[in-house]
Amino acid sequence: MKFNQWVLLGLAGLGLSQPALAAPDLETGQQINGVCAACHGDNGQGGKKGEYPRLAGQKVGYLKEQLVKFKNRQRINLPMFPYTEDRELPDADIEHIATFLANSQLETRLPEFKDSDDALARLLKMEKVLNIPRSEGDVAAGKTLYESKCVRCHGAKGEGKSFMPMLAGQYTSYLQRQIGLFQKGERQHDEDAAPGKDVLAPFSKDEIRDMLAFLTTLDDGE
Ligand code: HEC
Ligand code: HEC
Repeated sequence: MKFNQWVLLGLAGLGLSQPALAAPDLETGQQINGVCAACHGDNGQGGKKGEYPRLAGQKVGYLKEQLVKFKNRQRINLPMFPYTEDRELPDADIEHIATFLANSQLETRLPEFKDSDDALARLLKMEKVLNIPRSEGDVAAGKTLYESKCVRCHGAKGEGKSFMPMLAGQYTSYLQRQIGLFQKGERQHDEDAAPGKDVLAPFSKDEIRDMLAFLTTLDDGE
């Protein structure tokens, strides 16, 4: 458990509440996103085939936590760092931008069509889908690994939960890069894990490839 979680528990126990933060405001979020869009796209769709990750529809708790981690240099990334310095992104703005991005609607899965949808309506729905191409690998083997080791945190459909990120609909090359960082201990996956004991540490290249291949099938809403 993190220090601030202890503090909050302590405060809750004393009947005190957290200091009130300004309610997240989507319009302010959209303004802030003007800066982020240069790399992550106008709708947070990401870019350059995953050099810039997709942020749209990501879990709000996860987005906030990562911005704080970039700011504190707990997560090291040179392109991101200047945009999270206090001068650029004060804490109050983190609420606004994270809420804006979490609510930015790109679909990860193929849309559901109604019988009444004509060709144009279907086309418009398709344009909101960020389609991650299938990647090579043994999907069935990847599914078995994912279901035994990842599903409890990242969800059956790779949808994520609170500060655990959605993996479905994220660029494969980006996920692969992060897995490499976790395996090398250059990014921390689970703060309770001892260094070098990451849940991903024991996986071979082929097993990672298979899990990533499985994750790309979740885009199709299977
Ligand atoms: C100069 C390009 C650039 C700009 C501008 C930029 N980012 Fe990023 N961002 C990146 C890169 C590159 C990464 C991937 C870091 C990595 O590989 O670890 C990233 C990663 C992230 C992540 C982590 C995503 C994940 O799935 O873990 C978040 C959140 C994020 N950026 C939010 C923002 C926000 C909010 C802004 C605007 C205030 C912003 N970024 C501006 C380049 C940029
Ligand atoms: C105990 C819960 C837990 C388990 C089990 C788990 N993860 Fe995670 N995962 C997380 C958390 C929490 C993060 C965010 C880490 C951070 O704060 O930087 C994360 C982040 C990631 C990321 C980075 C995503 C991004 O947008 O940057 C990838 C990739 C990932 N996990 C893959 C996996 C895979 C594959 C497995 C199964 C082998 C797995 N995880 C098992 C909790 C878990």
